[in-house]
Amino acid sequence: MENNTPVQKKRVLSMIQPTGVFTLGNYLGALKNFVALQEDYDCVYALADLHAITVRQDPAAFRKNTLSAYAMMLALGIDPEKSVFFIQSHVSAHAQLAWVLNCYTQFGELSRMTQFKDKSAKHADNINAGLFTYPCLMAADILLYNADYVPIGADQKQHLELARDIADRFNGIYSPTFTVPEGLIPKTGARIMSLQDPTKKMSKSDENTASFITMLDTPNEIMKKFKRAVTDSEACVRYGEGKAGINNLMGIYSCITGKTYEEIEKEFEGRGYGDFKTAVGEVVVNELAPIQARYNELMKDKAYLEKCYTEAAPRAEAIARRTLSKVMRKVGYLPLGR
Ligand code: TYM
Repeated sequence: MENNTPVQKKRVLSMIQPTGVFTLGNYLGALKNFVALQEDYDCVYALADLHAITVRQDPAAFRKNTLSAYAMMLALGIDPEKSVFFIQSHVSAHAQLAWVLNCYTQFGELSRMTQFKDKSAKHADNINAGLFTYPCLMAADILLYNADYVPIGADQKQHLELARDIADRFNGIYSPTFTVPEGLIPKTGARIMSLQDPTKKMSKSDENTASFITMLDTPNEIMKKFKRAVTDSEACVRYGEGKAGINNLMGIYSCITGKTYEEIEKEFEGRGYGDFKTAVGEVVVNELAPIQARYNELMKDKAYLEKCYTEAAPRAEAIARRTLSKVMRKVGYLPLGR
């Protein structure tokens, strides 16, 4: 007998901070995956603008970056009808659940977060409470939507594990409330490294702009940055120990072309690093060109962008409210009379 019951798709959720132009690291580690997952999953994506103020933001630049990030996500192929793609600060349930989860997370757990340690070293003059409790807000983001899968780069793995622990703890104290999410971390691309110091991850907050490629870099800038990329003195394109720079370039090349490391080694056998760097630069330029063209078009239509995020907020809110109400009831809050 034929089964006509529609299959409930699994839910995917992820977010990104709109604090500047996204990097090639953001793209290969996470965003490329966001787009692909829309085919088979019920996807919820957002710009994590509440997270962004854990580091001081200039208000005008912040507003501009948020709109620009929204346009970039659409340019990449996030479909605002197929997926729910909203702005975190438009849905108040995130901040509300984050408060509740703060009270189910231990000081010791938050102290162990490597991102907190790194960021507090970097912003020693502003080690604010938000920076410390940031993972509770991220847990709220994920758990509100009962996400099954969370596509992220490797640097967010520890935060995801904490979200899982918090979900398990809450479910254990009360009764099953939250779905315990799983991370989706790509095999290649999960940790794209700085082009100037390949032992450090590529980051848009790096002072040295030659260390990262942004989604809006011109072809000329991209080629220049790859040509200057730090490698080693062996002059042989092969993946291996002590070759962090080349390994990173091979990772980038592999992510974009789909070629395996073996295939890349064969392709560049007997050829120098100059040739290889040019080839990596060219595939990146070609990958970004159509995205940049779509981005420029979208940025001309602010009314369309506003329409998309305005319509997305109540769709997100409807899902989030349901979970939040359940949590409030289980914790024992007295409901408002009607
Ligand atoms: P964020 O904004 O720093 O980065 C967004 C995504 O990009 C990935 N990423 C990288 N991947 C590979 N190589 C790199 N060099 C690289 N740099 C960044 C990140 O792993 C991330 O997946 N806390 C999160 C945002 C967030 C979130 C969430 C994510 C808020 N709430 C809920 C998932 C679910 C962050 O700051 O990512």
